[in-house]
Amino acid sequence: MALLEPFGAELNLHTGVMESSKQLIHRRLSDMRGMYVNEAAETELQSAENPMIYEVYASEVPEETGQVLYCTTIIHPGRVGDEYFMTKGHFHSLRDRGEIYLGLSGKGYLLLQTEEGEPRAVPMHPGTAAYVPPFWAHRTANVGDEPFVFFAAWPGDSGHDYGTIEKIGFPQLLVSRGGQPVLVDNPRFSGVSG
Ligand code: PA5
Ligand code: NI
Repeated sequence: MALLEPFGAELNLHTGVMESSKQLIHRRLSDMRGMYVNEAAETELQSAENPMIYEVYASEVPEETGQVLYCTTIIHPGRVGDEYFMTKGHFHSLRDRGEIYLGLSGKGYLLLQTEEGEPRAVPMHPGTAAYVPPFWAHRTANVGDEPFVFFAAWPGDSGHDYGTIEKIGFPQLLVSRGGQPVLVDNPRFSGVSG
């Protein structure tokens, strides 16, 4: 492993913008095809404006054992049908790698599931330090009217397995009922073995 120079990166604790980040990831609705349950609403919103769902400012730390990666995520406010804007979600490729999230601004939820499809949900607001234990897939959603911003840090060799979530989804959906976030069963969830 190379000996890196120590450094300090400035990040805006309200907006989540990390000016020094050269790895800005933008995910629009068209980058998440089929991940929202209401397909008609998805198609309509995509052809109307294809909104920006979330942005990630990533560190430039190498993805290798012993390093600690970090980033900020900004999820914009909005819904596809009743379902709140959210990240794609993933398991870590190395399943026994955990992660820490710190809420910076706005209101959101951390949704998790085990490989057996056991769901959990953790509300997040500024100051919430949320723990993603090893083996749990994780996704976040914005349930407020302003951007939901959080910081994340995780082991450098974790990797991202998006494919499993693209295939099975999450067991629960986070939807708006009378303006309030409510968890409901995902009718399309078939589980890892399904
Ligand atoms: O490492 C994480 O879990 C986060 O930094 C996410 O990568 C980030 O929030 C974007 O979500 P996803 O990677 O599921 O698109
Ligand atoms: Ni992760």
